[in-house]
Amino acid sequence: MIRFAVLISGRGSNMTYLADAIKDYNIAAQITVVISNRYCAGITLAQDRGLPTKVINRKNFNTQAEHEAAIAAAIHYHRSKYVFLAGYMAILSGDFVNQFAGQIINIHPSLLPAFKGLNTHQRAIDENAATHGVSVHMVTAALDEGPMIAQASLPLMASDTADSLAARVLQLEHQIYPFVLLGLAKKILSL
Ligand code: GAR
Repeated sequence: MIRFAVLISGRGSNMTYLADAIKDYNIAAQITVVISNRYCAGITLAQDRGLPTKVINRKNFNTQAEHEAAIAAAIHYHRSKYVFLAGYMAILSGDFVNQFAGQIINIHPSLLPAFKGLNTHQRAIDENAATHGVSVHMVTAALDEGPMIAQASLPLMASDTADSLAARVLQLEHQIYPFVLLGLAKKILSL
C-alpha cells in the first residue's frame, strides 16, 4: 500500500484525479493527508472526498524553517511514505527536500527542462514551441529539476492561447499523475 501526502495551494484538480483514480482503478494506495499552505478550493474538494486535510498557513510562522517543520510533522504524523506536490506553489527549502530525499514527486506543466518556473503556457507560445506538455519528476533542492519519471506532450496549435493550452495540458496532467501512482503501486516504477 502506497501511503502518500498531497501538497496543494489552489484549485486541487490533480489531487482529485489522484483520489478518484485510487477508487476507480482500485490502486493499492492511500492519500494520508492533503496539506495546503493556504485555505483554497482544493481543501474543500479533499474534504468532499472524506480525506484528512490540514491548512498550514505560512503567515502563522515566523520562518520558512518553522513552517516546513510543521508540514514535515503532518507528513510524518499521517505515516506517509511519499509526498506528491500537486500545484504546491511555494519553493521548498533544500533542508526539507533532503529530509525526504527520494520521496517527493512534482508535476510541472511543461516539458522540462524547458520552461521551469511560472507562466509556462504563455512562454511556450511566445517561443513558438512545436510541442508542450507535462513532466512528473522527483524533487531535488534545485527548482523544477530532479530525475524525470514521466512526460506527456502535445503539439501546439496556431489558435492556442495560454488558457486553451493550459486546459489541454491539464487533461494530460490528470492522466499522467494517476499513471505514475499506479506504476508505484504496481512496483513497475521504483524511485
Ligand atoms: C497544475 O497545472 C500543475 O502542473 C501546476 O499547477 C497547477 C495546479 O493545478 N504546478 C506548477 O506549476 C508547479 N510548478 P491543480 O491545483 O488544479 O492541480
